[in-house]
Amino acid sequence: MIHTIIEPFRIKAVEPIRMSTRSERRHWLAEARLNVFQLPADHVLLDFLTDSGTGAMSAKQWGAIMEGDESYAGSRSFFRLEAVLQDLTNYRHIIPTHQGRAAERIFFSVATKKGDVIPNNTHFDTTRANIEYQGAEAVDLVIPEGLQPRTRHPFKGNIDLARVEELLEREGHRVPFGMMTLTNNSGGGQPVSLENLRAYRALLDRYGKRLILDVCRYAENSMFIKLREPGMQDRSVKSIAQEMFRLADGAMMSAKKDGMVNIGGFLALNDSDWVEAAKTLLILTEGFPTYGGLAGRDLEALAVGMEEGLNEDYLRYRLRTVEYMGEKMMAGGVAIVEPTGGHAVYLDARDFLPHLPPEQYPAWSLCNALYMEAGIRGVEIGSVMFGKRDADGTEHYHNMELVRLAFPRRMYTQSHFDYAAEAICELKARAHEVRGVKMVKQAKYLRHFTAEFETA
Ligand code: F0G
Repeated sequence: MIHTIIEPFRIKAVEPIRMSTRSERRHWLAEARLNVFQLPADHVLLDFLTDSGTGAMSAKQWGAIMEGDESYAGSRSFFRLEAVLQDLTNYRHIIPTHQGRAAERIFFSVATKKGDVIPNNTHFDTTRANIEYQGAEAVDLVIPEGLQPRTRHPFKGNIDLARVEELLEREGHRVPFGMMTLTNNSGGGQPVSLENLRAYRALLDRYGKRLILDVCRYAENSMFIKLREPGMQDRSVKSIAQEMFRLADGAMMSAKKDGMVNIGGFLALNDSDWVEAAKTLLILTEGFPTYGGLAGRDLEALAVGMEEGLNEDYLRYRLRTVEYMGEKMMAGGVAIVEPTGGHAVYLDARDFLPHLPPEQYPAWSLCNALYMEAGIRGVEIGSVMFGKRDADGTEHYHNMELVRLAFPRRMYTQSHFDYAAEAICELKARAHEVRGVKMVKQAKYLRHFTAEFETA
């Protein structure tokens, strides 16, 4: 019995990465004002900034790209994508968009109004921002375990049904529909169980509310269900995914994740009062309904990618890669969010750098140290991203200081991961040498993208 799970693909085209030295990286990071968002990607060795739109496409996808029909109206490529998505979701209306947040903007513009309240396990930032832009309120009701980094639970993305019921009981008139994010990205890429989704649906039914899914990572979620949920082992991942879609009335997707493409997204809805208004807004801002801001070739790549993203050998390898990285971190004494989720490992920077006070932004400092030491780019999910500074200079800190290492799909090999794990564990052994940072310049909104820092 062989236990090694290999990359279920071979490599047909390669893209060189430029090796760099520590002194080069020190210089480049200084030029970037100690902000990894400001680094040219060519100066990054292993880029774990995001798993969104950064993966490798297959030979079949590249082949399909040549078949893209670029007709303005009625493109054959649209009908091909529509057929794939209708088979998967069973929703009647497939509305392509250029990426996830475009689907969000269109959907929330037509389905929410000022004063509404939208429950979700955890809203992703762009989801929350698009809801708040409509004057509505986005509430996160993940189960308590979902907020405790070290508490193990097979489905830490589950929604807290008792709190949803309390919300519906108290101010149900303000709730137009419920949402669920699969997997729960902001909570560590943690999955939701089918049992939880079914019960959520039943609860929303009792109050006459609809259910809308954010399905960026629905395939990873479905694989977790197959691996972890009692009675699901013999089902295909696709049939699990189909059941999830059938439990809801519609879905939004950034296809840059489990759609296995570099750009694309969609809004899919059953018949409802929302459809016509959504299509009108689509024409106004994205494009004609048979391309929605994408080229015909993008629709082709997505049609193929949606099927490849459900391949079980691929998903087994994908989840195992993340778990493998998690095991290596823990063996090296590095604290992470446990258990590992579907697309990323989250390092606990407070534990990694206990000598740094909050005002020296431990997760930001760790991110910089990983780049400087090993050329690895992660992303801070801590007080730079989610904290804020009042006009009088008072700083509000986030409740967690994490560094997310998100893994592009089908891009890096096991030795890339071994290198990253070795470098992180080696840094952990001399973590006391890592210096903190102070923020010397910041923008009013989304400050993490452009803020400037100095060594504290
Ligand atoms: N919903 C979730 C759960 C997401 O993770 C993202 C993007 C979006 C919506 C928005 O999609 O980027 O195509 O407009 N997440 C990326 C990330 C950016 O790095 O986690 P988009």
